[in-house]
Amino acid sequence: MATILVTGGCGYIGSHTVLELLNRDYEVIVVDNFSNSSYESLRRVQKITGKEVTFYEENIANEEGMDKIFSAHKVDAVIHFAAFKAVGESVKLPLKYYENNISGTVGLLKIMQKHNVKKIIFSSSATVYGDPERLPLDENCRLSTTNPYGSTKLMMEMIMQDLHKADNEWNIILLRYFNPVGAHESGLIGEDPKGIPNNLMPYVAQVASGKLACINVFGNDYDTPDGTGVRDYIHVVDLALGHIAAIEQCQTSGVHIYNLGTGHGYSVLDMIHAFEKACGKTLPYKISPRRPGDIATCYAAPDKAKAELKWEAKFGIEEMCASQWKWQSGNPRGYEA
Ligand code: UFG
Repeated sequence: MATILVTGGCGYIGSHTVLELLNRDYEVIVVDNFSNSSYESLRRVQKITGKEVTFYEENIANEEGMDKIFSAHKVDAVIHFAAFKAVGESVKLPLKYYENNISGTVGLLKIMQKHNVKKIIFSSSATVYGDPERLPLDENCRLSTTNPYGSTKLMMEMIMQDLHKADNEWNIILLRYFNPVGAHESGLIGEDPKGIPNNLMPYVAQVASGKLACINVFGNDYDTPDGTGVRDYIHVVDLALGHIAAIEQCQTSGVHIYNLGTGHGYSVLDMIHAFEKACGKTLPYKISPRRPGDIATCYAAPDKAKAELKWEAKFGIEEMCASQWKWQSGNPRGYEA
């Protein structure tokens, strides 16, 4: 079976993807420096699957360390998750984001080139569409960004496109995620944000568990059905399966770009009410000012992935909320012992 090296494999999307790779008998090598994750997620993935992962604690920007890893294994493809991802922090500390995300990716690509590994699946984001040109967002929509984090994602896409222009043996798959939420059905792995969550669903889950007092709804005066922001929430397990489909379907060199979303938009209030059903509690919320940089509506046209990757999201918001609640209620302190 093919050997897949996963950068950032201890993180939220990474750990769920490693689990699905192991379920399909891939050999998996994880490289992670725990900048926003812990080994406990991998320990649990191995427990759930009964399979082992080869693990290296390493910064992907460290060429010497990465060279050793690529020398020790015959890697068939890389799935590249490792990056900083907090939008607000990226506005305050742009250089931290450009340095980590861009240098890390360039370093990784150099080592891959050196070892003749030319297949990469990159963790991109719907953030590269900026303020949507049209809805639903298809892969040909205009690209733009509204913050440094988004700019790093777009630049990393451009770097990989240029690499393919220079050497058309590269097989580059850019997966643009919409809003990943939920957790594995076991309730043993999930999202473990450090500090106060930036994103809606982990915040809602922590209000449900009593860790936080009240949900702030960032604006109810958007041009949407109920005035609150609309997003395309996608179950993290569906997202993980999208990576497997990409590995298996994209066999020829080229730059392959896919949206991974459901095609359905739900508002902030829709999500709060869905979570209330999942946890059986009424959740306190208040309307707060708009969050700078937020857009009104964002949802995917998922048709290209369906046609070419033979993949589509299977889970609805009920499963997203139920699994997120199972993870949150079973692990109120995340991966901390
Ligand atoms: N929201 C709240 N209260 C909160 C947090 C969020 O009302 O406490 C609202 C936001 O205003 C937005 C919606 O909930 O309308 C979703 O916000 P998130 O922060 O969960 O997600 P975003 O859509 O802002 O961003 C996510 C990822 C980014 C990615 C982007 C791509 O966090 O990494 O999707 O579209 F770039």
